[in-house]
Amino acid sequence: MNLNLNNSADAIAAPGTSRLPLHRPRRLRRTPALRRLTAETQVSANNLIMPLFLREGISEPREIPSMPGVFQHTRESLRKAAAEAVAAGVGGLMLFGIPLHKDPTGSGAVDPEGILQTALREVVAEVGDSTVVIGDINLDEYTDHGHTGVLGADGDVDNDASIRLYAQAAVVQADAGAHIVAPSGMMDGQVGHIRAALDAAGHQTVAILGYSAKYASHFYGPFRDAVESSLKGNRKTYQQYPGNIRESLREVDLDLAEGADMVMVKPALPYLDILRMIADHVDVPIAAYQVSGEYSMIEAAAARGWLAREESIIEALTSIHRAGASMIISYWATEFAPRLSI
Ligand code: PBG
Repeated sequence: MNLNLNNSADAIAAPGTSRLPLHRPRRLRRTPALRRLTAETQVSANNLIMPLFLREGISEPREIPSMPGVFQHTRESLRKAAAEAVAAGVGGLMLFGIPLHKDPTGSGAVDPEGILQTALREVVAEVGDSTVVIGDINLDEYTDHGHTGVLGADGDVDNDASIRLYAQAAVVQADAGAHIVAPSGMMDGQVGHIRAALDAAGHQTVAILGYSAKYASHFYGPFRDAVESSLKGNRKTYQQYPGNIRESLREVDLDLAEGADMVMVKPALPYLDILRMIADHVDVPIAAYQVSGEYSMIEAAAARGWLAREESIIEALTSIHRAGASMIISYWATEFAPRLSI
């Protein structure tokens, strides 16, 4: 800042007179038009990605109890939700599948007829290239133990066996029409393995969004209801400790070296410092995931009249954008896409 208040009228006010301010930032906040004109950043519908869940074996959409307003969809309601999101102007859709049957190796994730691949085909048939369709790559919705990989003899997730399955999952998702695949398992080498498999299968144009800086967060709690996760333990041997900072840079650098086209920070609001640091560090687009717990906290407080719902949601989205996210995955994407103005 080159404000030199010593030379200002403030400093040379006559003795005994009250010192009124010369510098008045409030001039630029006086009217809505002035505030709009001088806005430094503004989140737009283009930045928003709507997550959608397809549940196998239901005939009516089911509201997720810990995420009021968010549904497990049938095929039919999924197509409708995708069309609504596009009509609202959202920038992308992120799809998740909830299978009926789970097993130790999460075989539903690599089955060409698996629930997520079905979801991708349904949505691509509905919306085509009018938005960007993203598939989440992991095994945790598909394994009976709930971890995002296969377990080794020691009971921990076997890194290298798991990334072989992620590579197969990437190919079946790309075959089903995903524009982008997003590995969320936090296994070492997952991006490189997936890139090689996609290229070998002729999917050179399918992009990879790495969930690069993904923390072991309790804010994923409601999502685990949403996907009926059977996880008993925790994910601390593969997701990051919330107190770490530089480790995120390392994860991002590795993902980029392995061929990630975009990187993600997750969760969003409790990790804005990480988001800003990564935005300052890399030149690829950056996504932030405003996760289920961030959603449910505001919804719960708003339902009690403790927070102004709409204003709080827009403030949270604006803050995530300001901190450096060029894309925000948000359960409010469809609802809020049409109302993002100052
Ligand atoms: C992995 C995955 C999770 C989320 C997105 N992808 C859960 C986890 O890692 O435990 C969480 C999203 C949210 O909380 O909204 N399948």
